[in-house]
Amino acid sequence: MDNRPIGVFDSGLGGLTTVAELQRLLPEERVIYIGDTARTPYGSKSPETIKKFAGQIVDYLIRHNVKMIIIACNTATAIALDDLRKKYPAVPIIGVIEPTVKKVVNDGCTKVGVIATKATVSSDVYGKELRAMAPDIEVHSTACPAIVPLIEEGLTDTKIMELTVQHYLDSFVKDHDFEHLILGCTHYPLVAGHIHKLYPGLKLYSSSEEVVNEAAEILRERDMLASGSEFKDRYYASDMSDNFIAMVDMLFKDTDFKIHLLMLEE
Ligand code: DGL
Repeated sequence: MDNRPIGVFDSGLGGLTTVAELQRLLPEERVIYIGDTARTPYGSKSPETIKKFAGQIVDYLIRHNVKMIIIACNTATAIALDDLRKKYPAVPIIGVIEPTVKKVVNDGCTKVGVIATKATVSSDVYGKELRAMAPDIEVHSTACPAIVPLIEEGLTDTKIMELTVQHYLDSFVKDHDFEHLILGCTHYPLVAGHIHKLYPGLKLYSSSEEVVNEAAEILRERDMLASGSEFKDRYYASDMSDNFIAMVDMLFKDTDFKIHLLMLEE
């Protein structure tokens, strides 16, 4: 048993979808969540900047004695995961990409679409990892850079968002004719309703859900599951955005939470 919290982070509020999964599947686990709201979005920034930001957050979580870190951000996973694992070999650091890839391959998908940020698509990490596990798989990816800023602005359930999703997906879905779509950004489960409505035949894979299954497996194997922990979940934001507060409020209605402002070192 290990009652230390799990550290979870994202560029903003998207990773809260991972925390919601964590609470659903592993309700005994406690978390420290960091949303880098002051510097979101990561997906349109350079790899050097993304590595620096992710590194600062992981350093903070390690100093706060977390037992595991979940990088609830595809962009940070794509760009920084390998370096962070090398820097902190003693702490399990899980990214959102590998668990999603495993699930897609285990389900026998032969042709998949991936939507993600610009940085994730440019890294081709989904393509590389999917082909490494299933050499014949056909992978098509496209970046949807305006979706994250609209979500962070609180415009998720609006016509503007529906049109934005349609703008990115219409020809992408029609041209490639796949049945399986990976939501390769932890913000995107929040627009899954629009995708279902526009393209009802598509089966969606959410990286948030798969990463929690992987975390549960690792904690079980290492006998590190929590039980009766007294630790209170902590939410940090690098800028106190109204939407971040509203999202925590909406997702964790019955929890008594407090959001702290976190200054990340330059
Ligand atoms: N949720 C992050 C991801 O999964 C969003 C990245 C961004 O800030 O652009 O990639």
